[in-house]
Amino acid sequence: MHGQWSSRWTFILAATGAAVGLGNIWKFPYLTGQNGGSAFVLVYVVCVAALGIPLMMAEILLGRRGRSTPIRTMQVLAEETRAAQWWQIIGWSGTLAGMLILSYYSVIGGWTLAYIFKSAVGTFSGASGQFAADTFEHFVESPTGLFFWHTLFMILTMGVVAGGVQGGLEKAVQILMPTLFFLLLLMVGYSMTTGFFGKGLAFLFTPDFSKLSGASMLSAMGQAFFSLSLGMGTIMIYGSYVPKDTSIASTSIIIALADTLVALLAGMAIFPIVFANNLEPGSGPGLIFQTLPVAFGNMNGGLAFGSLFFILLLVAAWTSSISLIEPFVTWLIETFGLSRVKAAVYSGVATWLLGLGTVLSFNWGAKVKFFGLTFFELLDYITSNLMLPLGGILIALFAGWLMKVESTKAELRIMNPGAFVAWQVLVRYIAPIAVFIVLLNSLGIL
Ligand code: TRP
Repeated sequence: MHGQWSSRWTFILAATGAAVGLGNIWKFPYLTGQNGGSAFVLVYVVCVAALGIPLMMAEILLGRRGRSTPIRTMQVLAEETRAAQWWQIIGWSGTLAGMLILSYYSVIGGWTLAYIFKSAVGTFSGASGQFAADTFEHFVESPTGLFFWHTLFMILTMGVVAGGVQGGLEKAVQILMPTLFFLLLLMVGYSMTTGFFGKGLAFLFTPDFSKLSGASMLSAMGQAFFSLSLGMGTIMIYGSYVPKDTSIASTSIIIALADTLVALLAGMAIFPIVFANNLEPGSGPGLIFQTLPVAFGNMNGGLAFGSLFFILLLVAAWTSSISLIEPFVTWLIETFGLSRVKAAVYSGVATWLLGLGTVLSFNWGAKVKFFGLTFFELLDYITSNLMLPLGGILIALFAGWLMKVESTKAELRIMNPGAFVAWQVLVRYIAPIAVFIVLLNSLGIL
């Protein structure tokens, strides 16, 4: 049987758990650094508000209406609305995107695991910025280490996935998410003492439009999709477990606010440390692993806080990783009648194998480039910048044009008629056109 959340609150927690993850704390800061700061942040926030929230509503709505995996949901809804069967592509491409993302997500989740241990044994006591940077470089140079941690992270993910909706997913999120939030606040508190807090804030929030290019706009938009888990069916499948009387609009707004707040806090914690230690904001995927240990190494109780922080980051990554593979796992179960455990093992092994490409892209394979990108960068580009936004456009178009207005109205139950029309305009016109323009612009066509 297809499961159901025990209440609206557990849905919010689970969806926030899926949304808040490495995307907020690891990826948002390093992309912000690589793209010059504030203008990137501004485009990101605008994309969350204007595209992210309406699209999240659309995705929950389709999921609750179809009540199945993204693939099956799109089949059912295409039949119901007499739309062409090729709309199922939304489900297929989303399911694939989830696996592709998880394959590298797991490698970074593995870094988090490794840093729990490094912090706990005091590697970073009194560490300088240079020391933390060197430690990270050294760490990713070894494929065996990364291989080990990637494997361990994948086993953890599959363990929860094998447990099912209520056994596995719900319990994991309840206490740990709020704790992570508090620790982030604490880190921001530390950053205030570095003397570079103002510089960090200015970097994040004083817009400098000269830094904005087509490519950086695309990556801000891609990051909005990535961070909110949109465009691939995660929210659709979580939405399919949502009780009928839950308000989709207010739930989406809460999730988007919480997700954005965590990302901004992470930025506010990290950039002052970057500037205080003369580190490079654009140093890439290692950014948080090169900065936060400096803070832990130099604050009172840093050993405990550092280990705790990476433990909580691990949990945040974990609640996201399970959501990435859930569409594929449930599809295997519902299509082939596999047991949940078998489905989890098969999909885990396949994703793990692909992850080996990412492991190697940080060391032996760092020089192997496709269109100028390493294997990891290529996977990330294809999924975040292409598959998620395109999936998002199709979801918006389907919800806006093909679903009967009575059924979207009935699902959304927005009382204010003006607000419903606003949503319609956003999913019918604004979201598809905006995504399209940003895509063309980054290709240099517009
Ligand atoms: N949003 C998560 C994060 O920020 C990652 C994630 C989970 C995701 N499910 C997703 C990204 C679906 C894209 C699509 O870490």
